Amino acid sequence: MLKMGSFVCASMFCFVFFILALPPSLGDVSYSIPEEMKRGSVIGNIAKDLGLDAKRLSARNARIDTEDGESHSVDINGNTGDLIVSESIDREELCGRRASCSLKYELVLENPLELHRIVLQIQDINDNSPQFPNEVIKLEIGESADKGARFPLDQAHDADIGHNAVQSYTLQKNEHFALAVHTNTDGGKYGELVLENELDREEQKEVTLLLTAADGGSPQRSATVVIHVTVLDANDNIPVFNQAVYKVSLPENSPLGAVVLTVSATDADEGANGQVTYEFSSISVKAAKLFSIERETGEIKLIGSIDYEDGSFYEMRIQAKDGSGLVSGTKVMIEITDVNDNAPVIFLKSLNSPIPESALPGTEVGIINVQDKDSGANRQVRCSIQQNVPFKLTPSIKNYYSLVTTGELDRELVTDYNITITATDEGSPPLSSSKTVQLSVSDVNDNPPVFDEQSYSASVAENNKPDSSVLSVSARDPDWRQNGTVFYSLLSGEISGVPVSSFLSVNGDTGVIHAVRSFDYEQLRSFKVLVVARDNGSPPLSSNVTVSVLITDENDNSPQILYPAPTGNSFMTEMVPKAAHAGSLVSKVIAVDADSGQNAWLSYQIVKSTDPGLFTIGVHSGEIRVQRDISESDAMKQNLVISVKDNGQPSLSATCAVYLLISDNLAEVPQLKDMSYEENNSKLTSYLIIALVSVSTFFLTFIILMVAVRFCRRRKPRLLFDGTVAIPSAYFPPNYAEVEGAGTLRSSYNYDAYLTTGSRTSDFKFVRSYNDVTMAADQTLKRSPNETSEQECGNEGESTGSALVNRIHFYSLCSS
Ligand SMILES: *[C@@H]1O[C@H](CO)[C@@H](O)[C@H](O)[C@H]1NC(C)=O
Ligand SMILES: *[C@@H]1O[C@H](CO)[C@@H](O)[C@H](O)[C@H]1NC(C)=O
Ligand SMILES: *[C@@H]1O[C@H](CO)[C@@H](O)[C@H](O)[C@H]1NC(C)=O
Repeated sequence: MLKMGSFVCASMFCFVFFILALPPSLGDVSYSIPEEMKRGSVIGNIAKDLGLDAKRLSARNARIDTEDGESHSVDINGNTGDLIVSESIDREELCGRRASCSLKYELVLENPLELHRIVLQIQDINDNSPQFPNEVIKLEIGESADKGARFPLDQAHDADIGHNAVQSYTLQKNEHFALAVHTNTDGGKYGELVLENELDREEQKEVTLLLTAADGGSPQRSATVVIHVTVLDANDNIPVFNQAVYKVSLPENSPLGAVVLTVSATDADEGANGQVTYEFSSISVKAAKLFSIERETGEIKLIGSIDYEDGSFYEMRIQAKDGSGLVSGTKVMIEITDVNDNAPVIFLKSLNSPIPESALPGTEVGIINVQDKDSGANRQVRCSIQQNVPFKLTPSIKNYYSLVTTGELDRELVTDYNITITATDEGSPPLSSSKTVQLSVSDVNDNPPVFDEQSYSASVAENNKPDSSVLSVSARDPDWRQNGTVFYSLLSGEISGVPVSSFLSVNGDTGVIHAVRSFDYEQLRSFKVLVVARDNGSPPLSSNVTVSVLITDENDNSPQILYPAPTGNSFMTEMVPKAAHAGSLVSKVIAVDADSGQNAWLSYQIVKSTDPGLFTIGVHSGEIRVQRDISESDAMKQNLVISVKDNGQPSLSATCAVYLLISDNLAEVPQLKDMSYEENNSKLTSYLIIALVSVSTFFLTFIILMVAVRFCRRRKPRLLFDGTVAIPSAYFPPNYAEVEGAGTLRSSYNYDAYLTTGSRTSDFKFVRSYNDVTMAADQTLKRSPNETSEQECGNEGESTGSALVNRIHFYSLCSS
């Protein structure tokens, strides 16, 4: 086996390569192998010869391509990098008589695309024997033929070439003829009989000779033919051709039957001796299928279709024979001219599809190769691509083009490209062909999910059911599959110290947001959470959106009466001077409502009274006034039941009782207890007076002390003594504040207190904090001894006992 793997980088290729400076390196490697190698034989190690990493060949999808896309005879072993024979190669079938026979392949590698040209030189082996066209060569030679006359013999053909073709002829020893061997312009050898001793028909009518043709191969092969010479009577003139050599050029694709040329020979003899016939004396098998000669006229006609690409030159020998068998020969050379009959053919050598949309402009996505079988200008090909795609063709080595991107790709806009490549040759008229390459763009996670809205807000009525749906958010992501699959989640955080997850939950797939708990408007008016939409790409992309939840008020709090204290625990008695005129202020009911708006808009109403015409209450102020002048006939004790209603739907209400005592004199106070405690003995009155006097003295001292202490500490509720209705700030729940929806909450309890503060100057004051029931002062106020009490529920009375404060406030402390 002849194996001579050699790395050849022809200087021409290197030059082209460096000038173009293109990424796919084109190294040439050339091997020379004999024909008819067995399948599986190793030609050479291509990985080694090209300096490639044999281990990566499979990964790079190494493959062997033919230049014209025809059948393969070799293959590559992806593991070792060996180039092996996959089909036995017959040089004769492949190249016929061409002296040099080579197969051209390309080694295509991907990632990155790389192309190497492989040239296989096929060496001839002597696998064909010479062959004579006919079994017998018949010659007719006149007896008058002179010594030295020459008679051309049929040429023996050998399909092998060079040394393996016919090299020699040997003629059987005889007394008349010698053999002269000649060489054609195409290198073929043929023999001529040379007459050495004149013939005498009368002596010998026929001569039979044996001619052997042998090739130069080893082992040598040979063929033998019988020459049958008939000796004729004298004939003086031989035919003479009018040209020694005929040359003609014939365009390919000429029609069948066309006359290529006419040869003509003349013979000076008369009659049958001057009658000339023509025939091929030496013609190749291929040419014999294409041309025929008219025996009588010498016209050479076309009988097969002629293709420049198949053969561009034919040579044949023609002999003219006269009636008596004298022959002479001439040579005909037919040159075939090229016609632009082959359109360029486009081969897609490599395609990186799909290509990720993130590919940078200039990325090579494929390699194409263009072939045109014609020659000259007919072979010059220009390639182009349609305009509206972000791709272009960059000429590479020889007829190779790289398909590269010219702009950014966006799968979300265009997923597939049909790229039409057109190749046109420069013949006239030009021929063109086109090929469509389908390229798809694969997804890259380059789009974050986008919410349909900039922000979301929802309002929820308080006291909602836990798990009720609040709103739903939705985000879109145009990416493909998991890169465009959106999941929702709440961004963890806190709302006044409580994790957001205990307020809301979001369905990861649908984006529906549910309340986790029941909201209380009085605790929380609004809050914001961040919802994140995340896609499933790697790495994932996300975006967030603010969801504001406004909690709306419901009328779920009844009015709360701060003053007087709620019925049951204590009762209040106001003293009304007997001289009070119509319109004078007697007392004021103070109530608050934890709700807001209409739900906290309070109205006051007297629902029950001892004397319905005597007192009125301001519907919104809660001020109790005398409606007409008090007369002597009015009962001293007056009870009012007052209802406080809010304006909600449905409205809620609370009631309280107010006890009024029409009297100018504290001495009449003893009667007062009869109002509430009818069972009390009247004897108590005198005790009470004594008690009041002593207690007043004590109490005044105590008040002065208290005021002093409070001024120093400034901690207790401030008391107003300026003659208006004084409401200690302690009447308000702690941290009373209106909190805007957007703000954070300062305390867990917030109220809007709708107080009726618009009343005019009053002549009474509150001296005690509503919720200050544990004050030591109260407990020091013991009942006077004459206030006998057999009851279990003792009363503690308090009185300023002076004109300064004319209000008595009773606390009933149940000591159970
Ligand atoms: C590309 O060609 C294929 C088949 O020829 C066709 O189905 C597809 O719609 C074409 N695509 C574009 C983007 O024109
Ligand atoms: C998603 O994007 C990544 C790159 O960001 C890519 O590798 C992957 O193939 C894409 N998935 C799909 C289904 O297209
Ligand atoms: C929310 O999105 C904005 C941009 O839209 C970004 O700047 C911010 O960091 C995101 N916040 C969180 C907590 O992810």
